[in-house]
Parts: sequence; C-alpha cells; structure tokens
Amino acid sequence: MKAAKKLPLTDECHHWRKIGEVPWDLQKYWQQRHTIFSYYNEGVYMTHDAWYGVTPEPVANQIAWELPKTVSDDKTVIIDLFAGVGANAIAFALSERWERVIAIEKDPSTLACAQHNAELYGVSEYITWINGDNFEYMKLLNSSPSSLEDAIKVDVDKTVLFGSPPWGGPGYSTDEIFDLSTMEPYNLATMHEAYRSMDHALFLPRTSDLRQIAQLAPKGTKIEVVQYCVEGASKAMVAYIPGAIQPGGQTTAVDPKETENT
Ligand SMILES: C[S@@+](CC[C@H](N)C(=O)[O-])C[C@H]1O[C@@H](n2cnc3c(N)ncnc32)[C@H](O)[C@@H]1O
Repeated sequence: MKAAKKLPLTDECHHWRKIGEVPWDLQKYWQQRHTIFSYYNEGVYMTHDAWYGVTPEPVANQIAWELPKTVSDDKTVIIDLFAGVGANAIAFALSERWERVIAIEKDPSTLACAQHNAELYGVSEYITWINGDNFEYMKLLNSSPSSLEDAIKVDVDKTVLFGSPPWGGPGYSTDEIFDLSTMEPYNLATMHEAYRSMDHALFLPRTSDLRQIAQLAPKGTKIEVVQYCVEGASKAMVAYIPGAIQPGGQTTAVDPKETENT
C-alpha cells in the first residue's frame, strides 16, 4: 500500500454556487454550507454523498481540540480512517498537535475533494493521503508492516485512530436508541475488532446505544462519550476508547462484566 499522489477532481466532485444547481435532496444541507466549511465560497468541493456525512467545521475543530486530552502526550500521529472530503483531517492538521496526520479514503473522487479542500485551508502538504480501505491498512500495519510504503508506516505505540464511518445513509435510523450492531456497512463489532489495539475515537450517531459502547472498555479503563452540538442540537457523539494494547505490548483483556463505563 502506498501514499496517494494528488488525485484529479472528477465529474463526481462539485462546487455549487446557486441553489438552482443543487439536487433537491441536498438543498437543506447546502443551506448550511458556510457552517459546514467556513471557506465554502473559496471553492470547497464535495461529492453528492459527502453532504450527508461531512463533519461540520465547528464540530471537527472541537474534536481536534478535545481528542488530545483523551490520549497521552507521547502520541504524535493521528490517522483519520474515513477521511471523506477532509473536514476532520483538515482540523487535525490545523490544530498543529500532531507530527503526522494520515487520512485514508477509499473513494478516489471523495479523496480528490479532500485534497483540494485541504489545499484551500493551507494544510494539504501536512497530510499524508491514502486512497484505500482502512481495514486493509490496519491489517497490513498489524501483520505485515513491511508491505506499507515508508511514507505510510507508523509506530503503533505513538498513533491514535479517528473514525467517522458511514452510518447507513441519510435515513440511518428513526429509532430512539440506535443499535450499533446493525450499522451499515460496518457495525461496531467490525470496527472494534480492527481498531481495538490502539486508542481510537469513533464518531457515531447521537442516539447510539451507550451500553454497546461501554462493553468495549478494556479492563480497568473508562470510555468517555461526548455529544457534539451545533446551535444547541446534537449532531453526533464521539466515543473515546482506550487501546487494549498499551505501549510496550501489554494487552488489557476486555471483560464486559468488569468494565467501568461512560
Ligand atoms: C461519513 S463519511 C466521512 C466524513 C468525513 N469525516 C468528512 O468530514 O468529510 C465516510 C467516508 O468513509 C469512506 N469509506 C467507507 N468505507 C471505507 C473504508 N473501508 N476505508 C476508507 N474509507 C471508507 C466513504 O467513502 C466516505 O467518504
């Protein structure tokens, strides 16, 4: 696996200036474009689906400010596992907290938008981009790091993961409590299996079932869960989950019966 070069914007990438250009199903999101990206008018590009899943800039900035408080100071690398059009990766780079920011996105058009948007914010060169599947990356990192190009190799003891996965589309749930075992295309168990060895923060639906999240706490640790609001309304929650393997290789077993939780 390799770092991505600068990818070209494609027909899937748009910068809409007038409401008449915007598909009807996206018009309510487009009305919030300046909250989503304060540099929108500078020429921010989005794909159609990105409007549903992008992290609004104030939330991305708040997460970038708060996440470091949940991990030890010797963590110097952050990986955005689902980079989308770049809102979180840009905020992590702008925070100047990290020596390296790595951003993984599997869709080339979406990644092209992210790279372009990061240029507008003046941080593209501080981000290492990967056009690929983060589960594949994590597998290689853990089992065969030599198959990763040097530019995307990291010291796992110094690395933190951030993941804002798809939630299953705009109508992801009308349930009062969102069952994370049914989340599409990746449920909580799938992500936890892939990320559990390292400190990781997951950006999840605001109504996510806290009991399911609490089960993930490695023995003797706590998971912090924070609701992020824009104009008084919660947009999402982030679960800050300690890694099960502490630096030096000690494994902390997950024992649901003994977990302290949120
Ligand atoms: C909810 S969006 C992320 C939004 C992002 N935080 C932002 O602010 O733009 C999820 C993204 O993950 C990408 N994705 C889905 N599965 C992936 C995978 N296995 N590896 C990497 N990216 C993936 C999708 O293409 C989509 O762009």
